[in-house]
Amino acid sequence: MNGVQGPGAPLADPGRPLVLVTGATGYIGGRLIPRLLAAGHRVRCLSRNPQRLAGRAWPGVEFARGDVSDPASLEAALVGVAQAFYLVHAMGEDSPDFRGRDLRQALTFAEAAAKAGVRRIIYLGGLGDSTGHRSDHLASRHEVGTALGSMGVPVLEFRAAVIVGSGSASFEMIRHLTERLPIMITPRWVTTRCQPIGVRDVLAYLTEALEHPGWRASSRSAAGMSSDTGA
Ligand SMILES: NC(=O)c1ccc[n+]([C@@H]2O[C@H](COP(=O)([O-])OP(=O)(O)OC[C@H]3O[C@@H](n4cnc5c(N)ncnc54)[C@H](OP(=O)(O)O)[C@@H]3O)[C@@H](O)[C@H]2O)c1
Repeated sequence: MNGVQGPGAPLADPGRPLVLVTGATGYIGGRLIPRLLAAGHRVRCLSRNPQRLAGRAWPGVEFARGDVSDPASLEAALVGVAQAFYLVHAMGEDSPDFRGRDLRQALTFAEAAAKAGVRRIIYLGGLGDSTGHRSDHLASRHEVGTALGSMGVPVLEFRAAVIVGSGSASFEMIRHLTERLPIMITPRWVTTRCQPIGVRDVLAYLTEALEHPGWRASSRSAAGMSSDTGA
């Protein structure tokens, strides 16, 4: 961890519990941090390249250099952290085995969080039936939730399908298709129903979750509950 502080005076009460946001350069993480700050939380964010966050106006935020596959970097980044958001995935990385990599990384993070005494991990995964046929992507998202909870730290898992908002990878794919193709013909097997959710709603759930320490492992039913609304 490089311990660098963001610009400006800290807004959060220094006595408030510290929240770690992984995936801070990502779509969800980058939008969540301003919300957490506005709610008065003390935030540290983790990135493999904190320089990518240099221009962000996030007053008081600590930047930690870290990789969820590197226990030493996690040990430093997790010092003093009460709750941690896990908003990382390896899809799109230069690795054909994204599923194995995501699983190993989640186990590494879970172990580091347990050693650091983190009280809860909040994870945003993928919405879908856990029993029927699942794509590798969806199976991986579910495996990560299980792995995060396998070292004793309670996990609150939210599950979202397509997140609607400009910049979201899944939403942009649909946007490009609909803008380029006047008519789209799909094979007969394209029957999967989807429950999209607006990004603002996702961010509201994640922010609100911090205020409810009792929502945890058994609150995987919270993921089931949230499937009613698509998150
Ligand atoms: N976007 C959607 O439509 C959507 C829908 C449903 C669920 N979700 C879930 O929401 C979560 C966040 O997704 P997103 O769309 O925000 O992802 P994203 O924009 O692709 O960002 C992925 C993040 O993962 C970080 N990362 C990757 N490998 C890492 C590693 N080894 N160590 C540390 N950080 C690493 C990247 O950070 P650096 O490269 O800077 O280190 C980046 O910030 C995921 O669990 C995803 O499954 C997203």
